[in-house]
Amino acid sequence: MATIGELLNIISHQWRQPLAQINAVTLDMYMDKKQDKLGEEELKKAIADIETTTQYLSNTIDDFSRFFIQEKEKVDFSSKVAIEKCINILSPSLKHIDIKVSILKDAKINGYITLYQQVILTIIINSLDAFESQKIQNPKIEIEVDEKEKISYVCITDNANGIKRENIDKIFDLYFSTKNDKKVSGLGLYIAKQIIHKNMDGTIRVENRGNGARFSISV
Ligand SMILES: Nc1ncnc2c1ncn2[C@@H]1O[C@H](COP(=O)(O)OP(=O)(O)OP(=O)(O)O)[C@@H](O)[C@H]1O
Ligand SMILES: [Mg+2]
Repeated sequence: MATIGELLNIISHQWRQPLAQINAVTLDMYMDKKQDKLGEEELKKAIADIETTTQYLSNTIDDFSRFFIQEKEKVDFSSKVAIEKCINILSPSLKHIDIKVSILKDAKINGYITLYQQVILTIIINSLDAFESQKIQNPKIEIEVDEKEKISYVCITDNANGIKRENIDKIFDLYFSTKNDKKVSGLGLYIAKQIIHKNMDGTIRVENRGNGARFSISV
């Protein structure tokens, strides 16, 4: 069992991005309204964005109770659907990113879908951070999904200049971060590894490929 402090750290980590997302959408609505640009379509889209995000937040609570109480209530889900949900949750931040999803075979995964999504979100959000810090002009994320002999493979590759050689063995360590933002905890990939290795009996790896980082998850 995790301590209350660890649990709070993890939950606040998981909630930061979706909460910022809701904030951004409501701020957009306010600005549009002020400039008389808030039509019915914009309103519907904003409400749908908020609904998707609050639904995700709500699901995380259920998953966390399962995760920490170690109840074995895994379900079958499609890797394609999980990835689509992540892209949906992050859609306001992905507007200027060229994101390509290739499904060779839609793998069925047995486990906790929200925790799995948390891993995908962590990887994509790290790419977004790297695009910004590296000032990448044509940011691209490529997601490939495949299944071989009942094992699902998801690879996420970006073009944000990759991870420095001296850091590549440390990025899954607890509290390891190269970002000097105060809100950053260095928990993201540590939690991701715990979820994939301990909770779902899978593996998560990283390598530099081309001009970016490539994360491979197999479950
Ligand atoms: N796609 C990427 N490109 C370059 N560096 C990356 C990428 N993904 C992760 N990293 C490196 O790995 C480090 C650890 O990532 P991790 O998500 O665990 O923590 P963080 O993003 O720094 O903080 P937070 O806990 O808020 O997520 C990052 O600080 C960064 O240096
Ligand atoms: Mg991170």
